[in-house]
Amino acid sequence: MARDILIIGGSSGIGRELAVELAASGDVVHLASRHEDQPPGASANFQTYDVTDKDATLDLPEKLDGLVYCPGTINLKPFGRLSDDDFQHELDVNYLGAVRAIRQAQAALKKAEYASIVLFSTVAVQTGLPFHASISGAKGAVEGLTRSLAAEFSPGVRVNCLALSLTDTPLAGSLLSSDDRRKASADRHPLKRIGDAGEVARTAAFLLGTDSGFMTGQVLQIDGGISTLKML
Ligand SMILES: NC(=O)c1ccc[n+]([C@@H]2O[C@H](COP(=O)([O-])OP(=O)(O)OC[C@H]3O[C@@H](n4cnc5c(N)ncnc54)[C@H](OP(=O)(O)O)[C@@H]3O)[C@@H](O)[C@H]2O)c1
Repeated sequence: MARDILIIGGSSGIGRELAVELAASGDVVHLASRHEDQPPGASANFQTYDVTDKDATLDLPEKLDGLVYCPGTINLKPFGRLSDDDFQHELDVNYLGAVRAIRQAQAALKKAEYASIVLFSTVAVQTGLPFHASISGAKGAVEGLTRSLAAEFSPGVRVNCLALSLTDTPLAGSLLSSDDRRKASADRHPLKRIGDAGEVARTAAFLLGTDSGFMTGQVLQIDGGISTLKML
């Protein structure tokens, strides 16, 4: 039976790839973001939604089989140059936006037989990286939320998170703006490349499906080995 999946932030990057993947498998895809940009081949129900607007409401189907929350930020600065506004913005987009979306979708998710929530974090939570103070705090909150809600919503709704290293999407555009930058970024990873949006999207699709049905409260690292391996 076709599933109803809501992707917050399906107009770009990983969310867009996921929308195409799910629509091709016959799912009914609901997209919510600030700009309408229908992924090719994914006829989806689009709604305008800004996760930083506390009063914004999501138009949801009665039953929701999955929620994927994609909005994120990359704001890398020395600690001394990060303002309160920087920290607040990272929290709003990455964490509080997810809280508000899940709060609204909770009732619809509980009506599905197998429901799954997928959130996104960064390798910079598990591994200390310079200039990541504001994003690591916000994504650390997302990882805590993942585990708390996985416990609270169990057994009806599973909650998992993907913690990424640099992945080739518009969000990472400024870090990948030349061949030299791309090569330097690739060389920092044991697998000698950066992440691909399609492979991350397919892992998100796996977390939405019954093949991952015994997994909840997990933070999976998709990071080319950078968080766990030391190359000699
Ligand atoms: N790419 C990387 O290197 C990388 C690394 C670590 C973690 N991550 C995480 O992976 C996730 C997906 O990132 P991505 O690279 O696919 O990002 P992306 O290409 O920038 O896509 C983000 C999506 O979120 C939407 N969005 C952003 N701000 C929004 C807002 N205020 N309200 C509603 N929608 C909003 C965007 O649509 P609109 O602009 O139309 O609103 C877009 O569809 C993020 O959580 C990110 O933090 C990515």
